Amino acid sequence: MDSLAHVERIQCTAEFPVTQRLHVPTMEEYRRQYDLSIKRPGKFWAEVAADFTWQSPLPADESAILSYNFDLNDGPIEVQFLKGVKTNISYNLLDRIIARGSGERIAYFWEGNELGEQKSITYSELRLEVVRFANALKRQGVTPGDRVAIYLPVTIELVVAMLACARIGAIHTVVFAGFSSQSLADRMVDARCTVLVTADAAFRGEKFLHIQTIIDEAVAVVLRRALPLKAIILVRHFAASANRNKAAYEATMAAYQSPHQALYLPWDEVVRTDGSDDECEPEWLDAEHPLFILYTSGSTGKPKGVVHTVGGYMLTTALVFKHAFNYVEGDIFFCTADLGWITGHTANVYGALANGATSILFEGIPNYPKPDRLWAIIDGYRANIFYTAPTAVRSLMKYDEKYVLAHPMKELKLLALVGEPINKEAWFWFFRTVGKERCPIVDTYFQTETGAPMIFPVPGPVALKPGSATLPFFGILPVILDENGKEIYGSDSGFLAFKQAWPGIARTVDGNHERFEQTYFAKFPKYYFTGDAAFRDSDGYYWITGRTDDLLNVSGHLLSTAEVESALLNDKRISEVAAVSMPHAIKGQCICVYVVTKNGYIYDDEVEKDLRNLIRKTIGPVATPDLMLAVRGLPKTRSGKIMRRVLGKIARGEQDFGDISTITDETIIDHLIEARMAKSD
Ligand code: WT7
Repeated sequence: MDSLAHVERIQCTAEFPVTQRLHVPTMEEYRRQYDLSIKRPGKFWAEVAADFTWQSPLPADESAILSYNFDLNDGPIEVQFLKGVKTNISYNLLDRIIARGSGERIAYFWEGNELGEQKSITYSELRLEVVRFANALKRQGVTPGDRVAIYLPVTIELVVAMLACARIGAIHTVVFAGFSSQSLADRMVDARCTVLVTADAAFRGEKFLHIQTIIDEAVAVVLRRALPLKAIILVRHFAASANRNKAAYEATMAAYQSPHQALYLPWDEVVRTDGSDDECEPEWLDAEHPLFILYTSGSTGKPKGVVHTVGGYMLTTALVFKHAFNYVEGDIFFCTADLGWITGHTANVYGALANGATSILFEGIPNYPKPDRLWAIIDGYRANIFYTAPTAVRSLMKYDEKYVLAHPMKELKLLALVGEPINKEAWFWFFRTVGKERCPIVDTYFQTETGAPMIFPVPGPVALKPGSATLPFFGILPVILDENGKEIYGSDSGFLAFKQAWPGIARTVDGNHERFEQTYFAKFPKYYFTGDAAFRDSDGYYWITGRTDDLLNVSGHLLSTAEVESALLNDKRISEVAAVSMPHAIKGQCICVYVVTKNGYIYDDEVEKDLRNLIRKTIGPVATPDLMLAVRGLPKTRSGKIMRRVLGKIARGEQDFGDISTITDETIIDHLIEARMAKSD
């Protein structure tokens, strides 16, 4: 498609703007720091910690800094980093930066859904809002260790709520505001949240979202399940919106009567601005105190509440942010991730603020009002670091290039990606059309559980290979394992695992440590198993090739096939379902479901519509299948196991089914293929 597509390896040389001031100037320096971080992690991390504020001295003995057990045979899985040392992350992100003289620096530019909807907030202003909101939370009875749910569009209030929790030792759990009421309720009950912070309504592109009806549905569920919810703090976001269709919804908003009115407290009423709340001594917490819970899909269907801790997460996100983007003072960082995902937590909030960076928060969507929105934002704010997902790149490259070219984006120095493997065509389009061949693309591989990127090209010294996340970052020791859990050396493919702990790794699944151990440490004793497969080439570069479990990656978000199936089984007309993944040109992967109806029920358009709605309501729109196939039965083994591998192949139009000798009914295969062909376009 273009002149660069044959290029296999790109070295950042003088013409890359980022190379002008590198934190890691040479391969020798990368190797020196990497070796130190692996051989003497205590010494390495103590040096990183020296930049931060701790309320008690760090241990003098470097072996007491990071300790862990990754082997179930030796007892429970455990990671401890700076255990017993006290700190506060909101203090380190705000007060510490202000004390360095950067209080007047912009922490965030906020760009709303509508053109021209803009705000900004300095570090000092942000600190004040955080302190006031922390006091407001305290008045609601929130104490250290309590859980606070946050369900908000990308707004400054969302960051304030997170950091206010962190200031008083409350544990935040942000739920992406595109999730359904059922998903929100499940998470709130699982995490035992006593306070919820949310908004009345928002616009997403043209679409009006009455968030409060979602909240009220969720609240009905959580109260039924006896969750002692004390308060819902409501941001009046609708009133502030400049959407041109706002008038059409004003009557809806005015007429809405919440059945749970007594629980609601408007944000601007709980926050005192008369000066009486302008100080809030941070809660000095053990470095191992939980900072937040973030839910991610699990292969048994029920999402896992991944727990990250104050000290380890702080240092890991701070260091990764500095190095992955070669952040230097004055840079303007723009990441499109919603704050409800780990990338939003790590890059936009904790990593950025720990470095005193200026970031852009964007509430809207890339193609509203026109498909040049992201490019206009980069240009308008002179952003020089742009971090996004392959799915966004693929969806934007389908539009005319004129949308990109209208915006020179002269400041851009670095592009970065996260969430899923990127195909070469999209990589080169991003490199050439957006980055003008001047910006390295830092492909960052990580997971909700790993807290921050683990494998990425440290910009400058590490040559890029389009499609590869390249080499491990400091403190990270990846291995490729065969199916018996034996390490494979040299160039080969296998299961991607990590052999050593790093400070930012998740400590547990909230309320279910056994599930944490079983999910990540049981399959391959002594290793943290990522669930991904990878190929390591002869230069030692890692190429992530995809999931090895029942999880699929739709637009950079993990979903579990079990979760989709159990949602559909709530329809009484359905007897069996199986969900599998299919490749999708923009989303990377999408969902295909096979549906078997009960005797007496006919699968028609109406049923299909209901099933789609059921998924939207139980999980959220992101899980809506792209293909639904009504079939008379599913292929099963004699032991009754659904042969998902076969269903996946049929969905993808592949012919080679491998060994299917254990199937109970051979004729089903032709029937399934026919059903698939009838729906191919
Ligand atoms: C899974 C984790 C962490 C960001 C958001 C997703 C896949 C992530 C890459 C990458 C290839 C990637 C993996 C991983 N993944 N980054 N750069 N290249 N694959 O977080 O929902 O926890 O998903 O996303 O499969 O296991 P998540």
